[in-house]
Amino acid sequence: MDYAFAQRVREMRSSAIREILKVTERPEVISFAGGLPAPELFPLEDVRRAVNEVLGNGDPSALQYSSTEGYPPLREYIAETMRLKEIGVGPNEVLLTNGSQQALDLLAKLFLDPGDTVILQRPSYLGAIQVFSSYEARFVTVGADAEGVIPESLEQAIREAHPKLIYLTPTFANPTGETMSLKRRQAVAGLAAEYGVPVIEDDPYSELRFSGEVLPPLASFDQNGWVIYLSTFSKTVAPGMRLGWIIAQPDLMSKLVLAKQGTDLHTSSFVQRTVHQYLVTSDVTGHLGRIRVEYGRRRDTMADAIRRTFPAGVHWTEPEGGMFLWVTLPMGLDAVDMLHEAVEEKVAYVPGISFFPNGGGENCLRLNFSNSTPALIEDGVKRLAGLLARRMG
Ligand SMILES: Cc1ncc(COP(=O)(O)O)c(C=O)c1O
Repeated sequence: MDYAFAQRVREMRSSAIREILKVTERPEVISFAGGLPAPELFPLEDVRRAVNEVLGNGDPSALQYSSTEGYPPLREYIAETMRLKEIGVGPNEVLLTNGSQQALDLLAKLFLDPGDTVILQRPSYLGAIQVFSSYEARFVTVGADAEGVIPESLEQAIREAHPKLIYLTPTFANPTGETMSLKRRQAVAGLAAEYGVPVIEDDPYSELRFSGEVLPPLASFDQNGWVIYLSTFSKTVAPGMRLGWIIAQPDLMSKLVLAKQGTDLHTSSFVQRTVHQYLVTSDVTGHLGRIRVEYGRRRDTMADAIRRTFPAGVHWTEPEGGMFLWVTLPMGLDAVDMLHEAVEEKVAYVPGISFFPNGGGENCLRLNFSNSTPALIEDGVKRLAGLLARRMG
């Protein structure tokens, strides 16, 4: 069909990498490519019980339309968890969304006109790049190291590019797994306020810390609403719930509510009540503890296997939490090219270029460790090591 799509649809492309990665759905492929939690750790029984309790009390509200802002007891619960993270908000500043992905879409819808600039750390979460691209944003990327985005580079980019938004994942970034230091958090929050640019702090992973010291979120250093905090139940309960939230000051909240009404009226009443019931009646602390122990074990297994088997000249991150490890190959090696061979060897990863909207990352790749058992991680890393040994002579 020859549909006359909107201009912005030109920015929505299916990538060649996605096509290659389709084969990772085959059960014989060891996939380090996805960003999936371990399904065997989902709190299946507790969620089943929560569903029964929500539906079994004769109250039909879970099946009714509800308010755009979200289920009040869940907003209160989230506000309380935010206060524990030193973000001093009440329930009225919490908006429930269909995952953080919708939060990103709503914010892009509110802030971006075609051609507006978004500053990203380099590399950045692919899903955010996709959202901002669909609103025809232009990207300026800023370098990051093991302590996160570099404040001096960020300031220079703000001065030169006059961005509408800055998007950061300060804790256990996707794709690198790295975390912004305390000092840089203070500096970045200061820059947001000084230049009056909203910073989106996307924080899906901070609860998945298995070593090191807990750091306060960027938003805890913000007094005036320049840091917009997002999080999700996708990594702590289950991604299939599609439940996340935005912390927003009243002026932003009223616009977000209008944007969300136009998108989907509200996030599922049933899901919100079920997750709330799960949270208040289950041993959530115990559940998170089990996830942290298991993901820590998988991170260790992957890092140890890489250390033992990868050739000299390859570097990788060893994050203190999250779900990913980032590998840098010697310059000149092409991770996209190598993916074809990897898939033949029945092992998969995401090539680095996917996370660089303005180019770069050819010699990098992202490995997910949360979704494979330690035995599969050993096996998959060994296959990658064999490939690298052949490529690197
Ligand atoms: C950095 C980041 N932001 C947002 C999301 C989307 O999460 P959700 O399932 O809450 O939409 C992901 C998912 O992997 C992510 O890695």
